[in-house]
Amino acid sequence: MANMVYFVIILLVFAGCEAYEAKYELVNGIPYNKDAPAHDEYPYCPPDKIIDIDGTEITIPCFCSQGEDGFLPIFYCNDIPNTDYITAYFDRPFPTYLAARITVSNSDTLEIPANVFADKQPIRITWTNNFIKSVDPNAFALTKPELEILEIQYEPELNDFPFTSLNGFPRLRELWLNNNNLSIISDLAEMSVPSLQIINLDFNNMAVEFPKLRFLPELRIISAEASELIGVSNDLPFEELQKLEEINFRGNKNIGSIQTGSFVFDQQTSINNIDLSNCGLVSVEPGAFAGLLSNTNVSLKDNLLTSLPEEAFRVMLETMIGGSGKLDLSGNDIVCCCDVNWLISNAGLEAALIGGKCAGGALINQLPLDYLAPLCPQMSSSSSLYS
Ligand SMILES: *[C@@H]1O[C@H](CO)[C@@H](O)[C@H](O)[C@H]1NC(C)=O
Ligand SMILES: *[C@@H]1O[C@H](CO)[C@@H](O)[C@H](O)[C@H]1NC(C)=O
Repeated sequence: MANMVYFVIILLVFAGCEAYEAKYELVNGIPYNKDAPAHDEYPYCPPDKIIDIDGTEITIPCFCSQGEDGFLPIFYCNDIPNTDYITAYFDRPFPTYLAARITVSNSDTLEIPANVFADKQPIRITWTNNFIKSVDPNAFALTKPELEILEIQYEPELNDFPFTSLNGFPRLRELWLNNNNLSIISDLAEMSVPSLQIINLDFNNMAVEFPKLRFLPELRIISAEASELIGVSNDLPFEELQKLEEINFRGNKNIGSIQTGSFVFDQQTSINNIDLSNCGLVSVEPGAFAGLLSNTNVSLKDNLLTSLPEEAFRVMLETMIGGSGKLDLSGNDIVCCCDVNWLISNAGLEAALIGGKCAGGALINQLPLDYLAPLCPQMSSSSSLYS
């Protein structure tokens, strides 16, 4: 009930402000509106107390302080009963429309509505632990010119995110959507953000193949750890992501098999780490990996691989021994019969291996060079040994 009164009062206050048009002039490089009420100590913050026309004091929903750079304000909105309070608050004239950061946490908000911060333009938005179920495609539309980091995390009921609503944001560098319950990522592949460097989707509930991203020319890191992925789409190479350095898909226990064409890079690639540890892998198809660099690390640690087919691994290892790249096979029990003969009889290739135990306990890279050769004259895979 008290909340209701609070909200009605805020609405009444704003009804009177409709005709207001803020006038900004640059002060220390920051757009400043000297007619807007300001905080006693921080000239770029609004006051801590809002006095209504009838003299009543209105509690503000967000706490403003001076940012680390000494100018741009930081807002913490914690424990808010409803997003309407947030929007009504930011709809007021503030000393500046810029903000270093706005954080909304531990609040009862069901959705992030359109233009939630009114005309204010934060550089970083953090939305965490609010039990939201949806994000309006226009939630951050007005922050487009300034937004660099968007974090929406620990929202266990959030199933969907409008990825393409961020298309064309000119400065967006980092998108953190970890620890939600995202299952619908259908427009992720169409995301087109010229400046995006990091996309983090760890700990979601996707139950799909991870799509090939194409329109993110600055992307360096893709992470979707333990997100219930069932694979990686193999329809396209990674050729348009020339800055991509790291792919982290560890802990997606239902991947099972890496299909041909899943991790194919072209000559312009920067890839140096692919982590597929603990993905329930039982097989890697021929040509699953192609175009890696000599310094690329591939981790297939803690999977269920029992064989190392030459068509799947030979080119990878030959590339790696030309640099510092490693294939990590620890935590797999390989059946060391004739189908690993190609590996141990090619002096040097095993130098690119980390771990890789035979089911009998010996490390593959410590088997003597000529160990299997006499037993596998035609490279036949019928004889069995060491398991
Ligand atoms: C997460 O999503 C799944 C369906 O994708 C649903 O069954 C589950 O209840 C959701 N979890 C929460 C906490 O809403
Ligand atoms: C690859 O792995 C090796 C051994 O663990 C490590 O020394 C090296 O720094 C890694 N390289 C990259 C690019 O992460």
